[in-house]
Formats: sequence, C-alpha cells, structure tokens
Amino acid sequence: MIQCIGVGPGSLDYLTMKSLALISEADVVAGFDSVLNVISPVIPPQAQIVTMNYSNQVQKLSSVAESHRLGLRCIVAFMGDIHFSGFQYLERVENACGHPVETIPGISSSQLLASKAKICFDETTFITFHRRGDLDPFRRHLVRVLEDNRNAIILPRPYDFMPVEIAQYLLDNGITGTQQIEIWENLCGLETSWSGSVTELAAESRVFSDMTICLVRSLTKFPSQL
Ligand SMILES: C[S@@+](CC[C@H](N)C(=O)[O-])C[C@H]1O[C@@H](n2cnc3c(N)ncnc32)[C@H](O)[C@@H]1O
Repeated sequence: MIQCIGVGPGSLDYLTMKSLALISEADVVAGFDSVLNVISPVIPPQAQIVTMNYSNQVQKLSSVAESHRLGLRCIVAFMGDIHFSGFQYLERVENACGHPVETIPGISSSQLLASKAKICFDETTFITFHRRGDLDPFRRHLVRVLEDNRNAIILPRPYDFMPVEIAQYLLDNGITGTQQIEIWENLCGLETSWSGSVTELAAESRVFSDMTICLVRSLTKFPSQL
C-alpha cells in the first residue's frame, strides 16, 4: 500500500506519532524536496528516498507506484495536511497507482495560523489559490465569504496571485479598503508577519515568499468570541 501522510507545516515539532511510525517502517519515502528536508532526520537510513519537483513529479510518482507493485512499503509525504490544498497532488499519486490510496492527516499551516491568531475554525472558511487551473471561481468565493462576515484563511498562488494581487482583487470587487488583513510567512521557521488594511496591502512593495498564508478576520463578533 502507498500511504500519503501529512508531515506538518515545516518542523518536526508538528509531525504526528502516527506519521513518524509510518516513516520509520517505510522502504520508500517520496515527496517534494522542501517536504523531505523537514523529515530527513527521521527517515531510516535503509529507506530509498525519492525527491521530486513540479516538473518531474508524474515520472517520479510512477517509479514509486512501481515499487509499491513490487510489495515495498511506500510513503508519500505531503506538506501540512493532505486535506487542505493537497488534493491535486493526491490525484497524481492515485493516477500513478491506478487506485485510491489511504491518507493520514497532518497538522496544516492553517491550524498553526488559527492557533497563533486565535481564531475559531467554525467561523472560518479555508480557500487555496495554490492550485493549477482557473482561479476565478475561488476568487468569487472569497468575496462571498467576506461579504458573509466569515474569517478567511487564504493560501496565495506563487507567484501570480500573491497577497498584493489578492488585495487588489478584493478592492476591485467591492470589499471595503479598511478591512484588515494579516500575512504570515514561514510559520514555525524564521516567522514574519505583516498586517494592515486591504488598501495598504494593495500598495505594498514588500515581496512575499511562497511560504505565505493570509488571514482576513470577520468584522462580526460571534458568540464564541465574546
Ligand atoms: C500546496 S500548499 C500545501 C498546504 C498544506 N497542505 C497545509 O496543510 O498547510 C503549500 C502552501 O501552504 C502554505 N504553507 C505551508 N506551510 C507553511 C508555513 N509553515 N508557513 C506559511 N505558509 C505555509 C504556503 O502558502 C505554501 O505555498
């Protein structure tokens, strides 16, 4: 069986015991370089490591699927949790195998942000632009979420729909310029944050990295926040 595991948002502190056990027993550990770098201290020395990037992932995943057909225990490591902004990659794993695979949850960057910013999941909508394809339906969804006064946790798309472009889109689509927005970079690493209004962000000259997550807080206080 290939098992897809979430390994947390960038530090072994957020690797679950379940994922650690699966890595320790694996014959093959696969994933993007940046994700394998985080878990490299706990990959057993005898395991074969398969690193991949955006351009060779399909070919690399087919070699992992081949190992799985030969009976090896294969792990594909995902950043954070698979179930937030991980399904396009999961689909590639399943296409390579030709069947559904098991997913093991991890701690998402969105959970880490919710904890730092003290916001409640129940009142928050999670939107990722970190995907291939047409962003328009997701952009429109973001505007509706803010109009409904919910918190929004947003993953930008490197590098064509980054925080500044998101802010400009919100202004162009009727969101008030005084709405506050927070940008957090490298949670659990060399963390930095920016906060200000949507208007200020649209005019911001700072260049944000691809390890960026955004939060727009609801203007409404729900009973749980009072
Ligand atoms: C393909 S998505 C995967 C998200 C992941 N599945 C999760 O649950 O966090 C990758 C994006 O997640 C965000 N991200 C992941 N880890 C992060 C961190 N430690 N700090 C800030 N953003 C992070 C960044 O926007 C990054 O480009």
